[in-house]
Amino acid sequence: MIEGHFASNLPAELLIDRASIARRTDELGERLGELFGNGQPPVLVGVLKGSAMFLADLIRAMDIDVVVDFMSISSYSQSGVVRIVKDLDEDIRGRDVVIVEDIVDTGLSLNYLRKTLTQREPTSLRAVTLLDKTARRIIPVPLEFSAFEIPDVFVVGYGLDYQGLYRNAADILAVRDLARLANDPRLIVPQLFGLKNG
Ligand code: IMP
Repeated sequence: MIEGHFASNLPAELLIDRASIARRTDELGERLGELFGNGQPPVLVGVLKGSAMFLADLIRAMDIDVVVDFMSISSYSQSGVVRIVKDLDEDIRGRDVVIVEDIVDTGLSLNYLRKTLTQREPTSLRAVTLLDKTARRIIPVPLEFSAFEIPDVFVVGYGLDYQGLYRNAADILAVRDLARLANDPRLIVPQLFGLKNG
């Protein structure tokens, strides 16, 4: 568990630095590589868009060949109803499948993905997430691998966004005041990228 403490008055605080992300991603990639060994290449399913960075680093740490596919889903936060926006290109029947998530929060998205992909009869189905916000879970969904457990804070960076921004930050930052960010979505830009485009 990583503690989120806001020591400064800056709009966001470093929660996980790029070196720690790289270390954990390498560890998980190696474990996944060993798990699938010499068998048929597993299908790694990146959930767009947030998992793009994590997926890219994870598969390069896996010392085996893999197949990469993407899915995109959207959820209506009020009702919890989830729908597919972009489906897989691959037929996953009889394949080893790993869902790659950026963050598991309430668990609604992962629960929907697991149910949907299970119906397609893969040989095995596992999930790996970069971040796990266990405190916010509504549905107790199985999660085989997680890089970091984090507290109930809103985070941006390394794929995670606020209104489409901050995905390209190399570190993961915890937002200090979400209401302020809602008022000014580019609030963290100067802190992250200096005065170049703030
Ligand atoms: P769920 O609540 O587990 O279904 O997660 C739904 C989605 O909410 C995740 O895939 C993220 O896109 C988004 N999300 C949840 N927490 C955060 C956060 O702290 N920062 C950015 N996106 C988040």
